[in-house]
Amino acid sequence: MVYDFEGHVALVTGAGSGIGRATGQKFAAHGAKVVLADVNDEGGEETLALIKDAGGEAIFVHTDVADEDSVKHLMQTTIDTYGQLNYAANNAGILPKFEPMHQKPVDVFDRVIAVNVRGVFLCMKYEIPLMLENGGAIVNTSSAAGLRAQPGVADYAASKHAVNGLTRTAAVEYAALGIRINAVNPGGVVTNMVMNIQMDESYAAMMQAAQQQDPHPIGRSAQPEEIANAIVWLCSDEATFMVGHTLSVDGGMTVD
Ligand SMILES: NC(=O)c1ccc[n+]([C@@H]2O[C@H](COP(=O)([O-])OP(=O)(O)OC[C@H]3O[C@@H](n4cnc5c(N)ncnc54)[C@H](O)[C@@H]3O)[C@@H](O)[C@H]2O)c1
Repeated sequence: MVYDFEGHVALVTGAGSGIGRATGQKFAAHGAKVVLADVNDEGGEETLALIKDAGGEAIFVHTDVADEDSVKHLMQTTIDTYGQLNYAANNAGILPKFEPMHQKPVDVFDRVIAVNVRGVFLCMKYEIPLMLENGGAIVNTSSAAGLRAQPGVADYAASKHAVNGLTRTAAVEYAALGIRINAVNPGGVVTNMVMNIQMDESYAAMMQAAQQQDPHPIGRSAQPEEIANAIVWLCSDEATFMVGHTLSVDGGMTVD
């Protein structure tokens, strides 16, 4: 499958690692100019080098998606550099330590909501005006935890339920104005987020049991590229009737 993103500009947050890196690479491979955003400068620069080494066009912009001025700076840099914005993958996110809700520090809850919810809201708030004239497509990265309970990370589950709510509402607000807005709900994906899971000892037994029986009916976790494929497809002209969908890309994990 080859998409024609030639002459188009794609923005990806959380592009310094995992799903965001794979999404940036895929947009570039299909001809888009890519704006890579992340708080992690080292990871962002690595993604930039990977895209340039493969012959693609991209820039990296240091961005904290939870910070309004930082997001405004990201959008201004996008326009100053490439003059337009056609696609956005609002993908940056954090997963906190697994621990019982009554032990969860309030500042951890607040930061998860700030990055995962406020971040998606701020990005859409400042991306949409850039797309109103020529249309565009936005894909937010939610999670299987945005569809059902995730013991140990109530804050994360709440944040991803909110991402799906933001997505559906924005989708209906802007569909008639030429901006298609969707979300992906990944299951487990082999990225730094999952490699670095921190866990209160009360959750260790649960995790051990989970490892014994893979929660994905397909029998394995995803590679980041398998989620990037869905994100880029949702932005493409192969998905022109997809609006407000919260697409599960989870190997069957949430099938009842
Ligand atoms: N890995 C999984 O199993 C999984 C499953 C479901 C959903 N997700 C979601 O996928 C998205 C990408 O996660 P990933 O698995 O690639 O993890 P990752 O940790 O590899 O990548 C996340 C990236 O987001 C960046 N980031 C964190 N806070 C930021 C901020 N405030 N501003 C800008 N960038 C920030 C990080 O620096 C990192 O580069 C996240 O939204 C995550 O919640 C991941």
